[in-house]
Amino acid sequence: MTVNIKLPNNISYDIIINKLNSIKFDKKTVIVTNCTISSLHLNYIKKYLDIKNLSIVTLLDGEEYKNMQSIDTILNHCFEHKLNRSSLIIAFGGGVIGDMAGFAASIYQRGIDFIQIPTTLLSQVDASVGGKTGVNNKYGKNLIGAFHQPSAVYIDPFFLSTLPKREFSSGVSEIIKMAITFDKDFFIWLENNILDNEKNIKYAILKSVQIKANVVNTDEKEKGIRAVLNYGHTFAHVIENETNYKTYLHGEAVGIGMLIANNLSIKIGLMNKKEALRVKKLLESYNIPTSYIIKNTETFYEHFFLDKKSLDSKIKFILAKGLGDYTIKDNLKKEDIISVLKDFS
Ligand code: NAD
Ligand code: GLY
Repeated sequence: MTVNIKLPNNISYDIIINKLNSIKFDKKTVIVTNCTISSLHLNYIKKYLDIKNLSIVTLLDGEEYKNMQSIDTILNHCFEHKLNRSSLIIAFGGGVIGDMAGFAASIYQRGIDFIQIPTTLLSQVDASVGGKTGVNNKYGKNLIGAFHQPSAVYIDPFFLSTLPKREFSSGVSEIIKMAITFDKDFFIWLENNILDNEKNIKYAILKSVQIKANVVNTDEKEKGIRAVLNYGHTFAHVIENETNYKTYLHGEAVGIGMLIANNLSIKIGLMNKKEALRVKKLLESYNIPTSYIIKNTETFYEHFFLDKKSLDSKIKFILAKGLGDYTIKDNLKKEDIISVLKDFS
């Protein structure tokens, strides 16, 4: 199954959802991965890589290593191995590796090609598609980066067989996000089909990638509709920050964030309680946490303004409109937001 990205600037690439097939490349190539993925799956992908001049850079595993130091490690490796403008970087791992390998590719000698071989569900359905690359710094997540589209994305569900359950569910949360905001039929399908077998997982990946590709094709640089992919994220980022990125995986925080957003939707008449309950039930069926205690609603509210998406001091809320549709609001009353936050305190 193949989904195509076709951007107005003539950039086009395929996202191939299938068991890996031979990937042939004549020029120098560097695989960027981490120690966990390398020990689990490097031998598996090597079988499919028909590349004469291949080297590997293995980073430490963790969001805390998604920083400029790791980018320096990748770039130094590329210089030491004399990569040139026609060389290739392969991102082999989850979203952390994908974002970093892509960013390194975007700046090495002003930009070289890279391909994505995502190994987590979250990176297969979201992070590997669309060309957002970057790293974190002390001011926040993903604040340094570039839009740099991969030249191909190879999604092989085989990798998911070793993924810890919690990580899998974290990816499911992003799948549910796509369904709630863009596709009611897909949401209903998710309610009626458990993602516990290859057929269903492949279908859910395909639907999510199709939704994301449609969004990216119309708004690569997030001037409009692409922001909808951040549904639940405004709240999730505060939750992740308040808990020092230690308590919740990203998708878990997004799950809670979607529920807070849905209460806001209910408050202003965009969603009914029954619909919100269906979302909660679906998240709970994958053991995605659905409760969070906000200790101080004012502090939580102030945190919104630290998010890079609200640097202009207006907070943009992505809200679900029923199931399968969305709206973007930047003029909500503070008292409405605080009142919803109080539901969670
Ligand atoms: P991750 O990359 O940290 O991977 C999660 C964990 O799973 C890691 O420990 C990793 O080593 C391990 N792992 C990866 N593949 C495995 C496998 N097949 N078997 C066993 N273990 C495996 O986290 P993630 O959830 O994939 O991605 C989160 C990151 O993605 C964040 O940094 C986020 O900012 C970024 N992101 C980017 C975009 C984008 O559009 N660029 C979108 C969403 C998220
Ligand atoms: N995950 C959000 C985006 O790609 O825009």
